[in-house]
Amino acid sequence: MKRTPIHETRFGWIFQDAELSADYAKHHAAGAHKAGEQFAILLNRENRTPGRVLDIGSGSGDTLLALTGRFPEAECVGVDLCQTLLDIARRKAFEQGLNSRVRFEEADATALPFDDASFDVVFSQDTLHMVDDPVRMLSECARVLKAASR
Ligand SMILES: C[S@@+](CC[C@H](N)C(=O)[O-])C[C@H]1O[C@@H](n2cnc3c(N)ncnc32)[C@H](O)[C@@H]1O
Repeated sequence: MKRTPIHETRFGWIFQDAELSADYAKHHAAGAHKAGEQFAILLNRENRTPGRVLDIGSGSGDTLLALTGRFPEAECVGVDLCQTLLDIARRKAFEQGLNSRVRFEEADATALPFDDASFDVVFSQDTLHMVDDPVRMLSECARVLKAASR
């Protein structure tokens, strides 16, 4: 499967730079964590207890880790193209004791390395505007998402 190197994406100049990426992670951690808490509230409100969850453009991992913490049964995957952010997210998962249920993988939002209908919940925060082909990213979201059961 074709994978776009991060530096070839539209905003890749930010996320190919380790220092800028680490700085981004530091400044967005609290907001990203809060977004995960809010996603969890929305899922609870709909009485959804997700099995497999995918976060596309997972960045520093804070959003997905907050969500993982709220759903003890969930198995969560975050994908991103930025190695610095993937490393930060993996470290946080380990520090929070969530590394058995959440993993962070290098993958392109527009060419996801997952089977059709393999996730119960797919979300993405602040990433669609960054990919070169947002329509393809949305079509990948739809492809890997299971059909709603109701
Ligand atoms: C603005 S950040 C948002 C990160 C995180 N979702 C948050 O809310 O803090 C966008 C993220 O998308 C990632 N990204 C950009 N293009 C991507 C692509 N084609 N596939 C996967 N991730 C990508 C970047 O590396 C970055 O981590």
